[in-house]
Amino acid sequence: MCSIIGYFGHSEAAPTLVRGLGRMEYRGYDSVGVLTGSDNKFVLKKGVGKVSEVNAKLGLDQLHGSMGIGHTRWATHGKVTTKNAHPHLSNSGKIAIVHNGIIENYEELKSNLQKNGYKFQSETDTEVIVNLIQQNFDETSDIKQSIIKTVANLKGHYSFVVIFENGTLVAARFHEPLIVGVENDNYYLSSDVLGFIEKTDDAIYVDNEDFVIVNNTGMHIFDFDGTPVKYQITKVSKEFADVYKGDYAHFTLKEISEQADTILRTEKNNQFQQFINNIKQSKNLYITGSGTSYNAAEIAKYLMSKFAKIKVDTVISSELPFSPDYIEQDSTLIAISQSGESADVLEAVRIAKKSNTSILSIVNHLNSSLSQESSLVIGLNCGPEIGVAATKSFTSQLAILYKITDELCNGCINPDWVKVSAAISQILSSQSNIEGIAKNLKEISDIYILGRGIHLSIAREAALKLKELSYIHAEGIAGGELKHGPLALMDSNVYVIIINPNDSTYTDTMNSANEIKARGAKIIGISDKESDIYDYWIEIPPIDEPLYPIIEIIPIQLLSYYTALEKKTNPDYPRNLAKSVTVK
Ligand code: BG6
Repeated sequence: MCSIIGYFGHSEAAPTLVRGLGRMEYRGYDSVGVLTGSDNKFVLKKGVGKVSEVNAKLGLDQLHGSMGIGHTRWATHGKVTTKNAHPHLSNSGKIAIVHNGIIENYEELKSNLQKNGYKFQSETDTEVIVNLIQQNFDETSDIKQSIIKTVANLKGHYSFVVIFENGTLVAARFHEPLIVGVENDNYYLSSDVLGFIEKTDDAIYVDNEDFVIVNNTGMHIFDFDGTPVKYQITKVSKEFADVYKGDYAHFTLKEISEQADTILRTEKNNQFQQFINNIKQSKNLYITGSGTSYNAAEIAKYLMSKFAKIKVDTVISSELPFSPDYIEQDSTLIAISQSGESADVLEAVRIAKKSNTSILSIVNHLNSSLSQESSLVIGLNCGPEIGVAATKSFTSQLAILYKITDELCNGCINPDWVKVSAAISQILSSQSNIEGIAKNLKEISDIYILGRGIHLSIAREAALKLKELSYIHAEGIAGGELKHGPLALMDSNVYVIIINPNDSTYTDTMNSANEIKARGAKIIGISDKESDIYDYWIEIPPIDEPLYPIIEIIPIQLLSYYTALEKKTNPDYPRNLAKSVTVK
C-alpha cells in the first residue's frame, strides 16, 4: 500500500506535500517522490528511502509551483529503485501520476501501448495508467473524457492522482481510499486525512468509482460515466490531528503508553444495542480479520462461547476466497479492522455479502471503506495509530469485544475498566526490567510463546509483535500441544515466554514450563505470581480472571519494542510491512 497526495492552490505545493507524505509514511516507506508544476513546466525529484532522508538529500520541499503531486511507495510491482519510484511521467512528459493499488491487467494494456509506440522506463503497473491517459487525451483533447476512457479499461483496485501540463489535477478512486481536503479554494487530494490535516479538517470522502477534477474553475466530482456527483463535506474529528510523537522516541512507544487512557475511551456508541440485537438474532455468527485483528477475533470467539454461550466461527480474511461457501446464507459477519482498509478484509466482506450476510464492523476509522460496507459500525475511539505494529488498537478491540460479550451474557463479566486501566499504568511504570530482558534477546533467532485457553490467542499476538518489531522468528504454542512436537525444539539456545496468570490455566501451564525447563530452555514468565522456574519474571498485577488477556499483552508489546531498539530496527516502520495492506 502506498500514500498518494496532490495539491492545487495559492501557496507553494512542495512543503505541504512533503509534510503530508511524512504523516502518511506508515502506508509505505520504500521510496518517495514529488513533482510540482508551474508555467506549464514540471519539476520532479524522487529517491529510495524515507521522506526525511530523501528530502534531506534532494530538497523535495524546495520545488517551486503552486500545484503538485507526491507519493510514498510500498513496492508491489518492480524492485525498490529510483526508476520505479513515483511520480511517473507519460511518454510526452506532459502528464504525471502517483498511484496506490494494483492494476491486474497492466501487462495486456502495456503490450497494446507498446504496439502503439509507447516506451516504458520502469517495471511498475503505474506507468501504464499515465500512458493510457495520454493516449486517450491525444485522441480526445479532453481531460474528463481521457479519464472516463482510461478507468473503463483498468482492472484491479486503485486510486491515483494525475497532473496535466496546464496544472489541472485529476484523482480517481476504485476501492482504494481517496479523500479531498477543502481549505477555501485550496484543494488537497490524499489517501488519508493525515495528508492535509494540518491545513484543514473539512474533508470529502470520495465514493467508489468517482473521480475529482481540480483546476482554476474549482473542484468537480463525477462518477466513472462522467455524471456530476453531489458531495458532502465532513468535519474530520480533531483526534486524528494528533499525529505527533510528543516526547516519545517512536509512535509505537507512544501508542503502547496511551493504553491506560485509550482502554477507558472505548464506548458503547448509538449502534451498540442494534449490534447486540443483531448478534442475538443471528442464525450463524462469523468473525473475520487480518493480522492482529484476527487475533482479536479469536479472543471474541472464546469469550462469546464461554460467557454468552454463543457459537462463533472465526475465519482469516485472506483465506475466505478459497472457501467462499464457508459462510452460510443469511448469516452475520463481524469484521474487525483497525484501518478499515485492509483489502483482504474488504474482499471477505464482499464474498459474505453474496450469501446475503449482514456485515457488522469494529474499526478505528469511522469513514473507512469497511464502515461504508457495513450495516452497523462500532468505533475504537483510540485515536490515530501510526506505528505499523498494532498495539493500542488491539486492546481497544478487546475492550469492545468484552463489552459486547458482557451485554450478551447480561453482565456476567462486569469488567471494571478503571481497574484494568490502573493495571496497565502499573505495567507501563516498570519498564526497566523489560528493557533489561530485551538485551538478552538481541542475538537469538527463535522464540516461542506458550499460552493455554484464552491465552493462546495472546501467545499468537505476542508472536506477531515479536516478528513485526524485532524480526525474530516467533511462534505462539498451545501449552498442551508442546509435547506433541514443539518440545523437540527446546534446548539451551531457545527462549520461551510463558503467559501464566494465576488463573484456571496456571497449574497446567506450570507443568509445561517444567517440561521446557527440563530441556534447558530459558523461560520468561509473565505472571502475577513469581516462580523459581522463570529465568526472567515480568510481573503483571492480579486482576479478575476474564480480564488478564487485556493486560498481559502490554509487557510483550514493550519487550518487542525494546528488542527492536537493541537490534537497531525501526519500530515504527518495520521492513517490508505497511500499516494496512490495501492490496490483496
Ligand atoms: C498489517 C499491520 O498490515 O495489517 C498489522 O501491519 C495489522 O499490524 C494488519 O494487524 C491488519 O490491519 P487492520 O487495519 O485490518 O486491522
